[in-house]
Amino acid sequence: MTLPSAPHQPLTSDLGEAMEFIRNVPIFNDIETNELTKIVRVGVRKKYKKGSIILLEEETGAALFVIISGKVKIVRTDDDGREVILSILGENDFFGEMSILDGLSRSASVVAITKTELFMIHRRDFLKLMQDVPSVAISLLKELTMRLRKADSQIKSLSLKDAAGRVANVVLQLADDIGTIRKGRVEIDELPLQQDLANMAGTSRETISRVVHMFIKKGHLELQGSKLIINDYEKFKSLFV
Ligand code: CMP
Repeated sequence: MTLPSAPHQPLTSDLGEAMEFIRNVPIFNDIETNELTKIVRVGVRKKYKKGSIILLEEETGAALFVIISGKVKIVRTDDDGREVILSILGENDFFGEMSILDGLSRSASVVAITKTELFMIHRRDFLKLMQDVPSVAISLLKELTMRLRKADSQIKSLSLKDAAGRVANVVLQLADDIGTIRKGRVEIDELPLQQDLANMAGTSRETISRVVHMFIKKGHLELQGSKLIINDYEKFKSLFV
């Protein structure tokens, strides 16, 4: 979850601006300027349209990506084409580290759910950076630990909770992934489609609609167009986690 930020300034080819962006990415926070310059020089900016497939499950992994702007979904699909969304990532998040670290194929597909701009760092450069700058490896481990905690909570929710609990868990996951908190209220802009929410919660679109409206009626949530608001994040969390 982020605090409200100034409107995003697109990265220009200007080195200084690119450095500023990279320095704000949590895994690169503690890097010295000379190391930062190296990353910016070896990285490549890439733009994707909404709906583009950025990575395909089972492909060989050759790079790590940092999100400059936009949002992506991390998905796995079965043989019938049904998909489950594991996570939604936004600005300053990274993905593609798993196959870089273990040398196996991509663990999931990554699809742009909005217009997206990425910063791509080749495997060889990223591995070298982790060896040269231990704080990058430590920050990466912290983020991976957080993702494991979320996955544990998803497993608990999918196996033990009723429909209301599963939908609440998805709403809380979105709040953590892409929400903005202001005075205890969390706003989730550009809420994913009902079908996407259903795939995350392991339920149907009808159930999502029914439960979200029940939460609205009880005053926990508000819907303003494609923006979902959790009126009291801590209270909502205490009721459903
Ligand atoms: P990689 O396996 O190289 O390619 C797919 C990427 O999706 C993976 O690296 C991670 O960066 C990301 N990913 C996979 N599973 C999750 C998850 N449960 N939560 C967040 N990101 C994930």
